[in-house]
Amino acid sequence: MKILNFGSLNIDYVYRVAHILQPGETLKAGEMEVFPGGKGLNQSIAAARAGAEVYHAGMVGAEDGGFLLDVCRENHVNTDYIRTAEGKSGHTIIQVDDNAQNSILLYGGGNRKITEDFIREVLAGFGKGDILVLQNEINLLDVVIDMAYEKGMKIVLNPSPFDEGLDGCDLSKVSVFLVNEIEAGLLAGGNGEDREGSGKGCENGEDGAKLVDKILKKYPEAQAVVTMGAQGAFYGQGSFRHFQRSFPVKAVDTTAAGDTFTGYFVYGLMKGEAIEVIMKRAAMAAAVAVSRKGAVPSIPKREEIKMTGE
Ligand code: RIB
Repeated sequence: MKILNFGSLNIDYVYRVAHILQPGETLKAGEMEVFPGGKGLNQSIAAARAGAEVYHAGMVGAEDGGFLLDVCRENHVNTDYIRTAEGKSGHTIIQVDDNAQNSILLYGGGNRKITEDFIREVLAGFGKGDILVLQNEINLLDVVIDMAYEKGMKIVLNPSPFDEGLDGCDLSKVSVFLVNEIEAGLLAGGNGEDREGSGKGCENGEDGAKLVDKILKKYPEAQAVVTMGAQGAFYGQGSFRHFQRSFPVKAVDTTAAGDTFTGYFVYGLMKGEAIEVIMKRAAMAAAVAVSRKGAVPSIPKREEIKMTGE
């Protein structure tokens, strides 16, 4: 069983700020650092650091993408399916405030230059039972889902950011959803009309268990994981439910914590481990990521995650 992650690769420009910028406001930033990131790349590296063999497919820019390819290679992520397009790679401007909360401005760059021919070429190397990991930072996500489903691949989707890129996607083809509570509310809510009111599910007092129930009511064949930061994470499949508490740490930067959870979760899925083990290790890894700065640099290696009995 192979793991393919068809997803974004970004350069993250991270600014430390006292608070997240308000409309019309000018604010001095503290330190500025440049990190490799992108939900796709973060999840590939998390799965690789957990111990999986991961193929990453995606597009970087000719002007600046060498850095991202080097990071993949240094982390033993297979780059055979990463191509270079004209122009710039995807990049972000990230503000991290004194409470470790962030806001992210995303520029697609190379991530938005995926073509149908490229998707066909990549998927030719994979088949039935292989795991496909997806997020929503590349174009033609609907085509990737349809082609992979036809091949019998197991599709794991982190529908983030939750925007119009998901509109054409047949989500009934997804085997595993990994969402935070905001995305869970939107996914369960369905038609995307309340996208601007993200967080609605939480305002209504719905907890993770209820959100899992709602997602599974809509997608009864799927597995669903709802992550809730310090409040822990819920898993559901059929009538089975499992709650995993979070591990307390001093939060420094929450960027890529969800991606770390996803990458470690995918590793456990590939190994066929019990869901209790998978969820616990993923939660421990995410906690480490929260305690460190940056996206890729914050993702722990497997030897840093000490599980009972390991
Ligand atoms: O999930 C965190 C990631 O989101 C960052 O690395 C940034 O690149 C954005 O894609």
